[in-house]
Amino acid sequence: MCGIIGYVGKAEAVPILLEGLKRLEYRGYDSAGVATLEEGLVSVRKEVGRIDDLRRSIALNPIGGSTGISHTRWATHGKVTRENAHPHLDRSGKLALVHNGVIENYAELRTQLEEEGHLFVSQTDTEALAQLVGRAFDRSTERNQGALVSAVREALTHVKGTYGIAVVHAELPGLIIGARRGSPLVLGIGKGEHFLASDVSAIVGHTRDVVYLNDYEIAAITGEGFVLSTIDGAGAGYNVTTVDMSHEDVDKGEYPHYMLKEIHEQVRSVTDALRGRLSHEEATAKLGGLNMSNGDLRSIERIVLSGCGTAFHAAMVGEYLIESLAQIPTECEYASEFRYRNLPMTKDTLVFVLSQSGETADTLAALRESQRKGHRTLGICNNVASTIARESDGGVYMHAGPEIGVAATKSFTSQVTVLTLIALLLGRIRNLSSSAGSRIISELEELPAKIDRVLKLEVEIAAIARRYAQSKVMLFMGRQYNYPVALEGALKLKEISYIAAMGYPSAELKHGVIALVNPETPSVVIAPNDAVFAKNLSNIEEVKARGGPVIAIGTEGKGNELSLICDDVILIPEASEILTPILASIVLQFFAYYIAVELGCDVDKPRNLAKSVTVE
Ligand code: AGP
Repeated sequence: MCGIIGYVGKAEAVPILLEGLKRLEYRGYDSAGVATLEEGLVSVRKEVGRIDDLRRSIALNPIGGSTGISHTRWATHGKVTRENAHPHLDRSGKLALVHNGVIENYAELRTQLEEEGHLFVSQTDTEALAQLVGRAFDRSTERNQGALVSAVREALTHVKGTYGIAVVHAELPGLIIGARRGSPLVLGIGKGEHFLASDVSAIVGHTRDVVYLNDYEIAAITGEGFVLSTIDGAGAGYNVTTVDMSHEDVDKGEYPHYMLKEIHEQVRSVTDALRGRLSHEEATAKLGGLNMSNGDLRSIERIVLSGCGTAFHAAMVGEYLIESLAQIPTECEYASEFRYRNLPMTKDTLVFVLSQSGETADTLAALRESQRKGHRTLGICNNVASTIARESDGGVYMHAGPEIGVAATKSFTSQVTVLTLIALLLGRIRNLSSSAGSRIISELEELPAKIDRVLKLEVEIAAIARRYAQSKVMLFMGRQYNYPVALEGALKLKEISYIAAMGYPSAELKHGVIALVNPETPSVVIAPNDAVFAKNLSNIEEVKARGGPVIAIGTEGKGNELSLICDDVILIPEASEILTPILASIVLQFFAYYIAVELGCDVDKPRNLAKSVTVE
């Protein structure tokens, strides 16, 4: 989704805005723009393409000023053109506005404004909002901060949909107005300067003291301070959070892509997900953030896990984990489906929503729908103080550190690690024995070292990946805990290489999928040494019998059996079947990454995608 950053202070705004946009580019990157206030005017520069294209345009035609707003776009309404890039102006040309979100009733608003003589230059929903605010301000008899806040407030009362906006006006230099409903905004507190951004990573290089705006809040921000109020005019309090993200965390370092850096961070990220949460003496997991007593947890009769994309695949692994270790009926629901279904749930149903960003619109809506029906709803999030984290009734942080690459990697393994801890805890307050619990704890403690061994397979995996990079279609298969990994591996590949990759339970092959098998269509089979290994071998034979190439992900010690029938084999360390999804998924992360690099794809910013889908 779109990225927003605003600056007001003593420094030149443009360099700060461009640097911030660069850090937000993963949120959306089809066009970008900047507006600054200088000498009583609004100066705007915007370009189709990447931030560097905008930087070059500004270098050729500089703009100054120490108050500015900027935006990097992921198109929701209107084609990718310079006219549709943000910022958008009102008809006076003195007010500029940038927006993240979707204004559902923009057509109606636009028609009304056009009937009043407002001319539009873009196809976007955002321009209607800019015109609406400008109209309200121009009707005001006063020309001050309060009047602009009131104009924003008045305009937003007509809006249906979601927004995170920043507004400046040429008559009010040194002032930015921010407002949010459904799209994140964070206010950065500096010395004699303040920032407004859609994501803290854009401003962490300047300040780590931030205020997260809540829905329906409006912020009036100057270099010296800020005032928060609500859409209905009341004052609003706030808490200052010191984020624990460093400049380095949001840098690629020596890696060519964020995705590769984040794949390599998984020894640390899984270690951090486990830190302080394993109790040897009780042979269980300790998860204080659930805000539920053992008695509360013991009364749970059913669990629903909900999320989108990779988070949904992690939830699918969680279903197997919880049912196996705790024997609690568990089901997964795509958040986008859950929010509109009328899932029959009893009062003893516990809902978990999973979201790395904590801002995914469908997942947030699923959380709110679950709470609306009175169910305790817990979050498994990475982004501390994100909307989902703040609105959940409790939950477990992933502690994976910032994940910038659009393709989720460490967030998947951290989510599965957290779900393993939850399953262990739930099992140990029911029928899971102390010895079984201790065994799982030992396995979890050995996991980071096994991840490190998988990371050392990078060169071998890269060589195999390159051999299959020209495939047009690729099939991924797995059973039980690794069926979700097949789906995740397929998602990884399709989203960064654009190859038509599909994931299935291995046994589904003969129910139709096998029609796709041919010498040009490779099959990736996740076949660890587990209870269904022999069944996976049979599926491999079925593929081979029809001339399909097979890449197997197996367990050390089973290489010979696999090498006899497969074209390529990658072996992961021996591990309990409940932990093979973590190890196998890292292999598939490398596999997708090196195919995409081989194809020259933009790994960190794949076409049509954005890191956090904050629109429906
Ligand atoms: C996965 O690689 C994609 N980035 C996407 O499917 C992502 O997992 C999904 O949009 C959910 O994001 P969230 O975890 O931030 O809610």
